[in-house]
Amino acid sequence: METVKVSASKEYTVHIGSGILESIGEKIKEIKRLCRVVLISDDTVFSLYGEKVKKSLTDSGYSVCEFVFPHGEDAKSLENFGKIMEFCAENSITRTDLFVALGGGVTGDLTGFAAASYLRGVDFVQIPTTVLAMVDSSVGGKTAVNLNAGKNLCGAFYQPIAVYADCETLNTLPEETFNEGCAEIIKYGMILDGEFLTFLQNNDIRENIEYVIKRCVEIKRDVVNHDEFEKGERKLLNFGHTIGHAIEKCSNLTISHGNAVAIGMVIATKGAYEVGMSDEDFSDTLIPILQKNKLPITCEYSAEELFRASLSDKKRSLDTMSLIVPEEYGLCKIMKLPVEDLQNFIEKGMN
Ligand code: NAD
Ligand code: GLY
Repeated sequence: METVKVSASKEYTVHIGSGILESIGEKIKEIKRLCRVVLISDDTVFSLYGEKVKKSLTDSGYSVCEFVFPHGEDAKSLENFGKIMEFCAENSITRTDLFVALGGGVTGDLTGFAAASYLRGVDFVQIPTTVLAMVDSSVGGKTAVNLNAGKNLCGAFYQPIAVYADCETLNTLPEETFNEGCAEIIKYGMILDGEFLTFLQNNDIRENIEYVIKRCVEIKRDVVNHDEFEKGERKLLNFGHTIGHAIEKCSNLTISHGNAVAIGMVIATKGAYEVGMSDEDFSDTLIPILQKNKLPITCEYSAEELFRASLSDKKRSLDTMSLIVPEEYGLCKIMKLPVEDLQNFIEKGMN
């Protein structure tokens, strides 16, 4: 088993290995005394792993109640957030109890926000079951639900007390969902680690999954340790996300986060070169790696549609937008662009 220690406002360990779920109760007992556990999962993941996790927790002495919701991005809603609050109150969950998120990024984001809010904060553990959740969303404490105006607009920074990534769960992941997570993996190589980017050019992600997850978590850990609340450096992790979120919004969330980020990275990379924010066109590096991992590089929306959809982005101030663009091979920088220039930037990035 590999471990990575995060030292943000809370210190916690990310455990990466195979077969962790069988003994998850005993593992959690190392860091949390016996209490009531609210196990939160979507219907797909719960039907695959819910009973196993429940049994292990119960065998270890925890008392478990479960909140299961229909899978999909739509579930990251104020409605489900409210249902979890009421469910916990009805079940007399107290501040010393524990929330456990079992699932992908949707489950982790929703559970984390619920944990941050219920009784002003209860401990929570992340058990990510998608590639995306293992390499990105379960680590670093960003939690949120979506609003009609855009993604993740209502949330909190709230760190888990531990993360347990059991790579065996990835065996049941549909191939497309596995690939979507690869977009965030490639993102890490592009923004902060040229050596890792070269590794991704020359190696297969699935064949090296434990190493790849560990490396991504280490990169994210370093960023979060320096800038947990995204005053500066953490913005780098949003490479491809401003335009990616706009793509998700234009598609009414039918284009997945990972696919949208893949396209967003291409547009940001090409756009930056075309408008002179980058000296080299790094899309020549990026596109083959995305294609090798069966990720899309274009979408059907116009630059104007994407521009309008991106106006609610959190990285926007009144008249400027923070954009992450490549500076060198394996290194990105944060640039400010006047909002009125964003449409032209997107248009150039799509040609
Ligand atoms: P997801 O949670 O919806 O999971 C994708 C699908 O895979 C779901 O249908 C789920 O039921 C299924 N699934 C999950 N694990 C499975 C398994 N092991 N076997 C079979 N099926 C499984 O989506 P995701 O791609 O994991 O996460 C996307 C979300 O993460 C988005 O809402 C995005 O905004 C968020 N996100 C958050 C952060 C953060 O820092 N908090 C970072 C990146 C993305
Ligand atoms: N996924 C972006 C971040 O955690 O900051």
